[in-house]
Amino acid sequence: MDLLRIDGGCRLDGQVRASGAKNATLPILSAGLLTDDTLVVRNVPHLEDVTTTNLLLAQMGVGVTVGDHMVVEVDSSSISSCVAPYDLVKTMRASILVLGPLLARRGEAEVSLPGGCAIGARPVDIHLRGLEAMGAEIEVEGGYIRARSGRLRGARYAMDTVTVTGTENLMMAATLADGVTVLENAAREPEVVDLANCLIAMGAKIEGAGTPIIRIQGVERLHGAEYSVLPDRIETGTFLVAAAVTRGRVRVVETDPTLIEAVTEKLRGCGAEVTEGDDWIELNMRGKRPRSVDLRTSPYPGFPTDMQAQFTTLNAVAEGAGAITETVFENRFMHVSELQRMGADIRQAGNTVIVRGKEKLTGAPVMATDLRASASLVIAGLVADGATEVRRIYHLDRGYECMEEKFAQLGATVRRLRDDAPVTARSAVKT
Ligand code: EPZ
Repeated sequence: MDLLRIDGGCRLDGQVRASGAKNATLPILSAGLLTDDTLVVRNVPHLEDVTTTNLLLAQMGVGVTVGDHMVVEVDSSSISSCVAPYDLVKTMRASILVLGPLLARRGEAEVSLPGGCAIGARPVDIHLRGLEAMGAEIEVEGGYIRARSGRLRGARYAMDTVTVTGTENLMMAATLADGVTVLENAAREPEVVDLANCLIAMGAKIEGAGTPIIRIQGVERLHGAEYSVLPDRIETGTFLVAAAVTRGRVRVVETDPTLIEAVTEKLRGCGAEVTEGDDWIELNMRGKRPRSVDLRTSPYPGFPTDMQAQFTTLNAVAEGAGAITETVFENRFMHVSELQRMGADIRQAGNTVIVRGKEKLTGAPVMATDLRASASLVIAGLVADGATEVRRIYHLDRGYECMEEKFAQLGATVRRLRDDAPVTARSAVKT
């Protein structure tokens, strides 16, 4: 397995481009199942999760063509299966996003139940109950969701928890339902809005995306479209935090500053100078040590849970102490024990961690446990004394495009090495 070796003591300086948003790309590719025409998706990031989604669609008989500059064409006219198998779903929970489109277009779906993951149990009960409210018959047995329906019918459905993919699944299913669907307590994330805009380009009738109430008027069919995915706000925020932690200056271009206002507010709160243009955002720390910040994650437009780990690292080297509360997932502090191995002073009490900043961390071998935790460990390695090796970086490859190359553009030394030499008792004994 690969690992990243990061040389510490770095001060980032330079410019990087934001890739297309992973969490918009995955539902938009799945939306290709809703029409027999071709859906052309542009600005697709080259990520493991995108490859998995393409594989998932292709094994259903869907034509998936990956062209230059990661333009992906999805053609479902020759689909031959409505099954999302365990061996693919277990590697990517977002595979659940084919459920709604398959039911709406084909009247059937068999999707492996996505298990939990490092950050939580992550049930899909809200997805299933919403589809049942639209007339689907669903049974869960043998680790599979088996769903059937005639034409889905419009329904009013209030989600008791704000769920991003739940909102996306039900919105896609409702586009072809008979009648009007009203989703209440809907997720407001920019990626939900991006999916809605793509569906509207395909002929769907959707109002209210980005607000807690989304209204979808079902239509007979959707047609093909060309759609360009919005910039990745979490990748943007990750590089800005790296600039703050290393006391440097980073400009992220081809992004959208309006997508991360909750994050830039906290970055200004830690003493960073943040400037913005229409499609760029720059953080300049001017060599100063950041001040600790307090934060509490919540659904958009609140502070994003996907930026929590990165800010835990920021607080670990900041001046003062900061409290970080995670309200979205029940186990999203797996990075804490790894940061403690690097000398961080962090105490957890329930869903809150109190982080007392230290002038320096010490480089160490650490292990990634989930996508955003991996990023927080890489950032810690940039500022630590000595070298840090982050193992199990397949987590990172799922959601960050060319991370080591982008950090190299900013002056960091981040190398990808192989870590497949199993340590045996004999080899561990120094001769
Ligand atoms: C999406 O996950 C994102 N993934 C996550 O990004 C992100 O962290 C999360 O939204 C929250 O913003 C994609 O969009 C592919 P949820 P999702 O359903 O939709 C509970 C990353 O790092 N819930 O919004 O799976 C659930 O347990 C990833 O890029 C139910 O109880 O998250 C959680 O506590 C990680 N029942 C809360 O809702 C359900 O049926 C929010 O989860 C569904 C969710």
